[in-house]
Amino acid sequence: MPIIEVKDLSFEYEPDQPVIKNVSFTVEKGSYCTICGHNGSGKSTVAKLLSGLLDRKSGTIMIDGLELNEENLRQIRGKIGIVFQNPDNQFIGSTVRDDIAFGLENHRVPQADMDGIIEEFAARVGMTKYLNSEPTHLSGGQKQRVAIAGVLAMHPEILIFDEATSMLDPQGKDEIKKVIMDLHKEKDLTILSITHDIDEVSKSDTVLVLDDGELVLQGTPAEIFRDEKKLLETNLDVPYSLKLAKELRKRGIKVGDHISMEGLVEELCQLRSKM
Ligand SMILES: Nc1ncnc2c1ncn2[C@@H]1O[C@H](COP(=O)(O)OP(=O)(O)O)[C@@H](O)[C@H]1O
Ligand SMILES: [Mg+2]
Repeated sequence: MPIIEVKDLSFEYEPDQPVIKNVSFTVEKGSYCTICGHNGSGKSTVAKLLSGLLDRKSGTIMIDGLELNEENLRQIRGKIGIVFQNPDNQFIGSTVRDDIAFGLENHRVPQADMDGIIEEFAARVGMTKYLNSEPTHLSGGQKQRVAIAGVLAMHPEILIFDEATSMLDPQGKDEIKKVIMDLHKEKDLTILSITHDIDEVSKSDTVLVLDDGELVLQGTPAEIFRDEKKLLETNLDVPYSLKLAKELRKRGIKVGDHISMEGLVEELCQLRSKM
């Protein structure tokens, strides 16, 4: 069942300068969808349109069976949580505990339930140890994990990551990717992740590729990576495992295409054991 249904969506910030051009797609409930495309292709704009932070010019957006309009705006906003790029801009509290509490207070969660909820969500992102730490003492990856905990505590149905790993060091990126994969195991949570990380794209269920406001490719990662020509046109890379497999075949080593290195390495190991 689709939880997001977008049909013929168009949007412009300035009159007659279309930024989103007639885009249609659906996202299944509980799936993990990545959105990619070069800078300025309209990814963040799509995320803001979906969450009602921007108002479309034309087209329809259905979230969880509800049409996004003025009447349903509040209800739909409550279904969507967003984690942004810059970990430093997402902190409001003076400790991790305060930060998660802040969002809960805004949602009028009773004081008596607060500590339990804070601890539950800190644990979900592996930040229990840091509940009383100050944000300045945390790494970028830890800050983003706290941001995720704060958003999760609002019980969203859809969690949007807008390049949430792009400012992190490799370790921070890995931490957040792991949290995303763990969250993906929860079958009711839908994840939409805007990313340039080819490894993340490979692990998602479906991929949307935007180019200059148009949806130029959509499908499973395997389908997307098959269209190498179009990917290159849109400045996106193909996974290293596919490039390597191609080079190996040129050298007479017959391997199939794998979108993860693990898959390729496994096949190579099997080949070796037959030699
Ligand atoms: N607030 C704004 N006002 C005018 N133009 C904007 C605004 N925000 C983004 N844009 C333009 O809209 C296009 C899409 O931007 P954006 O959705 O941020 O792309 P992406 O997230 O893929 O990098 C870009 O050309 C950008 O310059
Ligand atoms: Mg963006």
